Amino acid sequence: MSDAAALVALRGVSFAYEDGPAVLTGLDFEVREGRALALLGRNGSGKTTLMRLLSGGLRPGAGRVTVEGAPVSYDRKGLTRLRTTVQLVVQDPDDQLFAASVAQDVSFGPLNLGLADGEVRARVEEALTALDIARLADRPTHLLSYGQRKRTAIAGAVAMRPRVLILDEPTAGLDPDGQERLLATLDGLRASGTTVVMATHDVDLALRWADDAALLTPSGVRTGPASGQLARTELLREAGLRLPWGVAAAELLRVHGLPAGPPPGPRTAEELAALTAPREAPTERRG
Ligand SMILES: Nc1ncnc2c1ncn2[C@@H]1O[C@H](COP(=O)(O)OP(=O)(O)OP(=O)(O)O)[C@@H](O)[C@H]1O
Ligand SMILES: [Mg+2]
Repeated sequence: MSDAAALVALRGVSFAYEDGPAVLTGLDFEVREGRALALLGRNGSGKTTLMRLLSGGLRPGAGRVTVEGAPVSYDRKGLTRLRTTVQLVVQDPDDQLFAASVAQDVSFGPLNLGLADGEVRARVEEALTALDIARLADRPTHLLSYGQRKRTAIAGAVAMRPRVLILDEPTAGLDPDGQERLLATLDGLRASGTTVVMATHDVDLALRWADDAALLTPSGVRTGPASGQLARTELLREAGLRLPWGVAAAELLRVHGLPAGPPPGPRTAEELAALTAPREAPTERRG
């Protein structure tokens, strides 16, 4: 894949923390515009490190980070360009939130860009609405629930109107309804043109949500369409992950001679129920 197709990319990137062993070596990775990308790997495989490299929080020891093919320069101007393109939401909202109120926190990034007050207000309003937390605007952040803090942290990134929104384990700690609402929010952001990347251990979520899946394995990162990547038992094993339940269920259905639907298999309980529902008698031909 060429630089031209990639909005942001890592080219031959190696990285080690101070005095530590290499976390990533000679890594090639790209975020393509409009494709929902899930980054998967076991604990300690380097997902967070990779995301911080992409968003400019860490600088590669070797190799380069590119935005639309152009290498990022790590001066003020270059980093501002990278951060207005890519925004990272860290896993723990308490590492991100610091202002007294929700609206103040969300306005911090746009204010820092030096935007006019009216523009800042418009962006904050838009971000709070997108995350469905407009009613919490004046709430002190320390009085919010975990899910509300998570939404506030995402709103802070959305207010920067990034082209790429990167979320580190965004569903961790959310209840099932909170997860569904977050996925609906991400769908809305995607529909308005934001490219979304998410790190997760959750293979079922990745299969359901992502267009592409990148699996971090000890021998490098393997990227491809999620439906193919997440049905590759060997690759999943190498990455320390398990088979998504839908893929496993489809295998079981096939073994029993039952319809398993198109590969890789059902993505939701509803899809599974539809596959195994009693067949209706064939309807008359229309026409
Ligand atoms: N600040 C740091 N200083 C030193 N080593 C670090 C630091 N952060 C991470 N590491 C090490 O780098 C490796 C990759 O960590 P990273 O946090 O990127 O993994 P991860 O895939 O995000 O894991 P998890 O699923 O647990 O979030 C690990 O071996 C970790 O111990
Ligand atoms: Mg992590």
